[in-house]
Amino acid sequence: MLPVPHTAIIVVAAGSGTRLAGGAPKAFVGIDAHSILRHALDGVFAAAPAQVVVVAPAGFEGDAESELLAAAGERADLGRIVTGGATRQESVAAGLAALWGDVETVLVHDAARALTPAAVIDAVAAAVDDASGVIPVLPVVDTLKRVDEHGVTGAVDRSELAAAQTPQGFPRALLESAYAEARTAGVEYTDDAALFAAAGHAVRHIPGAERGFKITTPADLERARHLLSAPIRSAGAVRVGIGTDVHAFGGEGDLWLAGLVWPGEQPLSGHSDGDAVAHAIVDALLGAAGLGDIGEHFGTAHPEYAGAHAPVFLARTREILEAAGFAIGNVSVQFQGNRPRFSGRRSEAEAVLSAALGGAPVSVTATTTDGLGFPGRGEGIAVTAIAMVHAS
Ligand code: CTP
Ligand code: MG
Repeated sequence: MLPVPHTAIIVVAAGSGTRLAGGAPKAFVGIDAHSILRHALDGVFAAAPAQVVVVAPAGFEGDAESELLAAAGERADLGRIVTGGATRQESVAAGLAALWGDVETVLVHDAARALTPAAVIDAVAAAVDDASGVIPVLPVVDTLKRVDEHGVTGAVDRSELAAAQTPQGFPRALLESAYAEARTAGVEYTDDAALFAAAGHAVRHIPGAERGFKITTPADLERARHLLSAPIRSAGAVRVGIGTDVHAFGGEGDLWLAGLVWPGEQPLSGHSDGDAVAHAIVDALLGAAGLGDIGEHFGTAHPEYAGAHAPVFLARTREILEAAGFAIGNVSVQFQGNRPRFSGRRSEAEAVLSAALGGAPVSVTATTTDGLGFPGRGEGIAVTAIAMVHAS
């Protein structure tokens, strides 16, 4: 018997799919040989073990059960089916009513976001704390305008905006009371984060994934089909890449290295913050995916990255890879240098770098060079990174 998980994932699949008009409730429309629901559940069961509550349309509980059993494999004990309601909010409420007593963290996930990577699910679950919810978001890339029936009335600063995805994660007790409040007030919210925020609780955000888009229209279904039929790239599904970077010590301010600020340490000079660890990782990832190098994507032609820190570079690199159909397996990086003394902050650095890569493991090691070469003379730092990616 597996230990009872403290996390539950409610997969809402009870909608009718009016806009998709796929001839069946949306969750049961096929993408390839498998339905939208089956793909969503494959992602859910590839994530860390959790109770899985599938909210099915009335009359389709048996079909949902078949999909659940097929996706769950040995984890079938963790799954159950409940019947949904007339609105998404009622469907989530039905899922909440079916949670096990031990569950402390609840993720609510749209089955319609069928290709959401397991790494996003794990990252949301890991980021939830006692007091606040967490949602995955993507930056808004379109230029936005405020309009009325006569024309354009103003610009909207897109840097203040983000597109929300699922799963959205919450501490169970607060989510349950927020749902009770919404029911009493008779208010329908656009998503769980809005309902949770209306009850006075904080919601934080982490990077989402391009593949976490919601299948709403026939064009979205085409996009999902296209992504799934993309040819497996040569050399099988797994590729590796290497990146190196060297920066000299120099300049003003604090040292930035491995995503951390090191007060009192001599800074590295260079475009952006000189974080040679982050830059080597970017090159290793881009190289593994065959997508060019750091100069092409972040060089002086991109002044918006001047002064940017590791999380910005790494999150953008991950987006570039995901848009090309790659998921990050892991990264291993080593720097050679006398300073800073690294071992005491290893896990801190690894957590920051890993979070920026959507939860992919990153290990960082450091070594001195026995006094030899420029790192040994204390002139600068040399970094080597290796990354593994796979066709996602
Ligand atoms: N959902 C649900 N119960 C409802 C309505 C929606 O469980 N009463 C779920 C859907 O199955 C979907 C998610 O909420 O996974 C997001 O909703 P949406 O994309 O709007 O799906 P549908 O409501 O099915 O589609 P449409 O609005 O086009 O009818
Ligand atoms: Mg709907």
